[in-house]
Amino acid sequence: MKVRKAVIPAAGLGTRMLPITKSMPKEMLPIVDRPVIHYVVEEAIKAGIDDILIITGKGKRAIEDYFDRSFELEYYLREKGKIDELRQIEEIGEMADIHYVRQKKPLGLGDAILHAEKHVNGESFAVLLGDDIIISNKPAIGQLIEVAERRNSPVVGVEHVPHELVDKYGIIDGKKIEDDLYRIKTLIEKPIPKEAPSNIAIIGRYVLTPDVFDALRETPPGKGGEIQLTDALRTLLDEREMFARRVAGKRYDVGSKAGFIRANLELSLTREELRDEVIKLMESILREVRDG
Ligand code: UTP
Repeated sequence: MKVRKAVIPAAGLGTRMLPITKSMPKEMLPIVDRPVIHYVVEEAIKAGIDDILIITGKGKRAIEDYFDRSFELEYYLREKGKIDELRQIEEIGEMADIHYVRQKKPLGLGDAILHAEKHVNGESFAVLLGDDIIISNKPAIGQLIEVAERRNSPVVGVEHVPHELVDKYGIIDGKKIEDDLYRIKTLIEKPIPKEAPSNIAIIGRYVLTPDVFDALRETPPGKGGEIQLTDALRTLLDEREMFARRVAGKRYDVGSKAGFIRANLELSLTREELRDEVIKLMESILREVRDG
């Protein structure tokens, strides 16, 4: 198996981030000075992927505009001699070979993935959800691809979460077979804590094989009336082995308000030109809050 293509589902309604997502895709929310989806595309590219399919939907045009060339802006920046800015803008327009397909109705992550069938054309492929930014030395999706190619099997990215939060995630039960690697026994979408088989949660990274499409077609709507990828993967487990790789890295759930704010604060600290100013700012805010 060789993984060359990535699918980024970005057609969800983003209700946890309302009201901003009423008129703006959550994938375009800024983390410091670039949209969430920029970090996600960058991760895929760093993992050696050069073909990316973004699943979009109603109101998501800004995503396409962002990755497109912007000749007017490039002309303006060139005229003004703003060369650094010009390079940055040009680079975004050339980041990867990006394709788009529209999911007409947000019927769930599983349904969004089904829209990728034609594009992936019988190959195994990576999936990166735009809600999760993962910062790591080795790109998170690359960690999964390494296992998928070695084992010739689908792999999901996982992380241990506090037990009371298991109902926010797909949860796996698995047998540990190597450091940070499990053979999956079962998967369940958003279980109530007392029914959860573990606290090992699926985060927004997967490597899938093309047989997932048949499994998805057979999957009836599950939790929330949506076609759940987790349900389709459980069906597929009857037919083949599947693995869960504990991802090394720092994850930000930017689809939630607290996660979004945290990502902005922490990632601004990784920017040399901002770091000192942001630390001073945070210190002064804390002082004000403490002093009432
Ligand atoms: P989420 O459940 O986190 O996205 O789906 P959401 O529905 O937009 O968010 P909330 O819960 O209402 O705030 C996980 C991923 O699947 C995509 C989303 O864009 C996100 O990347 N998705 C979800 C689709 O592409 N289509 C869908 O029908 C549902």
